[in-house]
Amino acid sequence: EKGGHKHFMAKEIAEQPTVLADTIKHYITENGLNLPDNTPDFTQIDRIVMVACGTAYLACATAKYWIERFAQIPVEVDIASEFRYRSPPIGPRTLAIFVSQSGETADTLAALRHVAEKARILSVVNVAESSIARESDIALPILAGTEIGVASTKAFTCQLTVLLALALKAGQDRGMLSAEDLRSHVADFHTLPGRISSALGANEAIAAIAKDLSKARDILFLGRGQMYPIALEGALKLKEISYIHAEGYASGELKHGPIALIDPAVPVIVMAPRDTLFDKTVSNMHEVMARGGRVVLVTDSAGAKEAGDGTTAVITMPEISDLLAPILYAIPAQLLAYHTAVAKGTDVDQPRNLAKSVTVE
Ligand code: M6R
Repeated sequence: EKGGHKHFMAKEIAEQPTVLADTIKHYITENGLNLPDNTPDFTQIDRIVMVACGTAYLACATAKYWIERFAQIPVEVDIASEFRYRSPPIGPRTLAIFVSQSGETADTLAALRHVAEKARILSVVNVAESSIARESDIALPILAGTEIGVASTKAFTCQLTVLLALALKAGQDRGMLSAEDLRSHVADFHTLPGRISSALGANEAIAAIAKDLSKARDILFLGRGQMYPIALEGALKLKEISYIHAEGYASGELKHGPIALIDPAVPVIVMAPRDTLFDKTVSNMHEVMARGGRVVLVTDSAGAKEAGDGTTAVITMPEISDLLAPILYAIPAQLLAYHTAVAKGTDVDQPRNLAKSVTVE
């Protein structure tokens, strides 16, 4: 049942090239988008609220970068347990998006009901027959297949895929994304499963680094721009299954507080593909190194060449378009958490105090 893997989490991480190919095939044709006809027309939407918990919340936080970039629609991302007790301003031109693997998370469902009368409801779910799917105006399945490990892995990358397709549609509807740019993003999308396979090739290298990380008491993750939510996801995944205290920060926030934590006992994982923000992130990384911090840099080969010197370790990812980088860089975040937990001997698939589906408040 674990397909030769030691844990469901390992199996589900390894499945990503296949499940992502299925999700991509469902929503993206050879040269365009293929969202259902009842997907909202984004010319009729002037505000989007995205609501979820945990990893699904971090998928929303990533999608905010994409929707704003392509469609210039204001996006607010909220934690379901907060949203449900607020009085969020919702109008007829507000689209509320709920993201949930299980489709049964109590807070997310309550948040949906909180605005169901007022807003258009779109959900992004894995379980198509779930309560959240049933109570939505439109439910987009992520097609990740059953996810058993408590730590969400393939559901996260499939959520990101569906949300990116939606962001591209928003840009297209609003005439802000040229046909040529759309074609090039679509072409990139089709190369993603192959890149994810190559990223999985870093498995052994990451296992070796994780042995060292497993001795730490605290670990920081840094990222900038659309890598910031991925840094948060790396920290969430790590604390969830290895029980090591981990925090993710926007790199630029470092000098506003967290830099005080830096010392050789606190490893710092820097998620930084060689994109337009790379130099900024690297300068934050150098601030860490100047204070004796040990850095694990997750980047591509160009980034490794430019900034690998002086780091403790480099995890090299394949080249990827900047748009798809968050999906690809989720892989090393998952593998770091997985191998650190394995090195510590914790219960990877059933971490203490956690349930796969949180159906109570
Ligand atoms: O089923 P959902 O996507 O609504 O679950 C939300 C969170 O409980 C979930 O993502 C949780 O944070 C994971 N265990 C993280 O790996």
